[in-house]
Amino acid sequence: MEVKNKYIVIKHHFEDAPKEANFELKTGTIALSVAPGSDDIIVKNLYISIDPYQINRMKLSSSSQGTSSFAAPINPGEAIDGAVIGKVVASGNAKFQKDDLVLGVFTWAQYSLVKEGSILRKLESSEFPLSYYLGVLGFNGLSAYAGFFELCKPLKGEKVFVSAAGGAVGNLVGQYAKLLGCYVVGCAGTQKKVELLKKELGFDEAFNYKEEKDLNYALKRYFPDGIDVYFDNVGGETLEAAVANMRIFGRVAVCGVISEYNSAGRKASPNMLDIVYKRISIRGFLAADFLNVFEEFFSKTLDYLRTGELKTIEDISSGVESIPSAFVGLFKGDNIGKKVISLAED
Ligand SMILES: NC(=O)c1ccc[n+]([C@@H]2O[C@H](COP(=O)([O-])OP(=O)(O)OC[C@H]3O[C@@H](n4cnc5c(N)ncnc54)[C@H](OP(=O)(O)O)[C@@H]3O)[C@@H](O)[C@H]2O)c1
Repeated sequence: MEVKNKYIVIKHHFEDAPKEANFELKTGTIALSVAPGSDDIIVKNLYISIDPYQINRMKLSSSSQGTSSFAAPINPGEAIDGAVIGKVVASGNAKFQKDDLVLGVFTWAQYSLVKEGSILRKLESSEFPLSYYLGVLGFNGLSAYAGFFELCKPLKGEKVFVSAAGGAVGNLVGQYAKLLGCYVVGCAGTQKKVELLKKELGFDEAFNYKEEKDLNYALKRYFPDGIDVYFDNVGGETLEAAVANMRIFGRVAVCGVISEYNSAGRKASPNMLDIVYKRISIRGFLAADFLNVFEEFFSKTLDYLRTGELKTIEDISSGVESIPSAFVGLFKGDNIGKKVISLAED
């Protein structure tokens, strides 16, 4: 049987902040069966992860594009790949059966054809919603956990600053830091997010960076004795201000630099003298570098979810049609927590 399959493409490469007009909804067809002898798998997609890094794949060229298979360029007119959870509808691969739940790199579509060699694993049904495997129990959680614990080597009582703290990675970093016993301050772009961080997620302080005239001064207010650990999600002037306020032997984990992802974003130019004399470590990372701690991250995070010590913040939209606005919204601060698209009840 063949069915219609809606999917999202970019119309053209772009360098500026993304707009819905950069995207197009297409409709193709897909067979819900596999030819005898083929090891293809057909997946009905249930949840699609919406992530800022995809913008760097949508540019004509970016220094990121050759660094990892996740960063490979996206061609206009072709289905966009990303992290997806789905259900197998047909399988020529003996390791996967019809109705298996799977997580992998599929397409921004209703259905995906998954070829041998694709990133794909079976998902045992869980006590938590499936969408958690794209966020708190997936690569966002691993980014927060590994970036914070493995790179920053935080100690109880240290002073931690997190940017984009109302987002998928940032809110988890702040919660892990509180669970360790750190003093934690987050910044975010709306008062609603600031209230969430302080009242529901246990941050000691939070502020709206859009209302601050001078970020350097704002950080002095919250960290009169300086910052030990800065978890950077945004780059730009926030990174500069954090470096200016770091203590001796401070550590900066650069998870992402979203304010620099489009051509208008100011590139960070931190004070190198501070970095030398305060012996500050600044290190970028990719979550995929830390698969060696995945099991540890996963079991600790499951425990925290079970006890309710870790809260999950998700922002879910419905339908393939909502993907462009969901993606564009990441760069306007529309999302609160992990942005996910829900496609089908299952
Ligand atoms: N290294 C890795 O393996 C890895 C893995 C996942 C994510 N990342 C990176 O981590 C960062 C956070 O990703 P996420 O998935 O958790 O996204 P997210 O924080 O859920 O969403 C993006 C948020 O960034 C903020 N933002 C957007 N434009 C901004 C700007 N110009 N200046 C300051 N803040 C801005 C917005 O919140 P406000 O309301 O606060 O502005 C927005 O909600 C991104 O840089 C992403 O690329 C890296």
